[in-house]
Amino acid sequence: MREVIASAPGKVNLLLRAGRPVDDGYHPLFTVFEAVSLREYVAARTRRKPGISVQTMVYRPSSSGGAPAGAPDLAEELAGLPAERHLAVRAARALQPLAAARSSWGASSAGLQLTVHKTIPAAGGMAGGSADAAAALVAVNELWQLGLSPEQLQAVGRTLGADVPACLVGERALGLGRGDHMTVLDSDGSRRWWAFAFSHSGLSTPAVFREFDRLGLGESELPAALEEGFLLQAGGERTPKHLRNDLAAAALSLRPELARIGQEALAAGAEAWVISGSGPTIAALADSEEAAQAVCGAWRVLSEVSSTAVAWGPDAGARIEDALPGWADVGDFG
Ligand code: C5P
Repeated sequence: MREVIASAPGKVNLLLRAGRPVDDGYHPLFTVFEAVSLREYVAARTRRKPGISVQTMVYRPSSSGGAPAGAPDLAEELAGLPAERHLAVRAARALQPLAAARSSWGASSAGLQLTVHKTIPAAGGMAGGSADAAAALVAVNELWQLGLSPEQLQAVGRTLGADVPACLVGERALGLGRGDHMTVLDSDGSRRWWAFAFSHSGLSTPAVFREFDRLGLGESELPAALEEGFLLQAGGERTPKHLRNDLAAAALSLRPELARIGQEALAAGAEAWVISGSGPTIAALADSEEAAQAVCGAWRVLSEVSSTAVAWGPDAGARIEDALPGWADVGDFG
């Protein structure tokens, strides 16, 4: 048996401008992602039995900025998700023909066991599923010794979901097209702190885009380039004045109660807040780890908030790991 472990980050969109849908139904985007330190881990192992199987362990992220807390649960919604719809499995399947064509080890007849360790809530607007796909692509590329370049992995990732390339490249990156054609932006290397408020139930990305269309919110023209001011601030520690999400009005139309979570963040000292992607997760910028923890403390009394997390950004893209982190290394679930 061989095993490769990889991780990939979740994201928040610092800027998300969306146009009107084009022929394929997708919306042209002009978006800046920031990868954050909430990461998904995927362990990919060979096994004798043919086929690809997946097990998903779900952890509650820590609102103190440290390791996720508590014992893992098998997520009900993921346990019920058929394996063929699990993005980690779809990622591995997308690589199978390449393994077969290159007759590398683990050609399509070989078995594969994936274990996904999740800290990013499903359907939350933070690309948790896409991070699973990104980590699986990196792990399986290595396990099957396919030798695909980062660009080739992005091309495969794009076929799995619009956010998968962002989880592959990480850092702070401009996404064009469906948001899946990436340019990594310069950074001065400083970290900044985020507080995240998760909701009891997720929002469907297609439903938010449909609401966006119903409200007639699509820009007729997207910006051609990032403003200089954005670039200057994006490279520095904070960008509050530039946080903007065109999907926010659609998400708020479906979930008006989210606005209160944002207002509470400001009252608790956050510099700015934004709905993460298509929501419903609320992301608040804070000027220190302690300030982010204080925002989480204020959120915990709100009935709309199921849990909170502190994380920093920008974090690295999908990468091979030597081992699972201590909180996820809970034994053999294969
Ligand atoms: O690519 P992905 O499967 O993650 O997208 C989920 C859904 O979100 C799409 O089916 C589409 O309805 C919507 N979407 C969109 N425009 C984008 C990205 C996603 O309309 N640029």
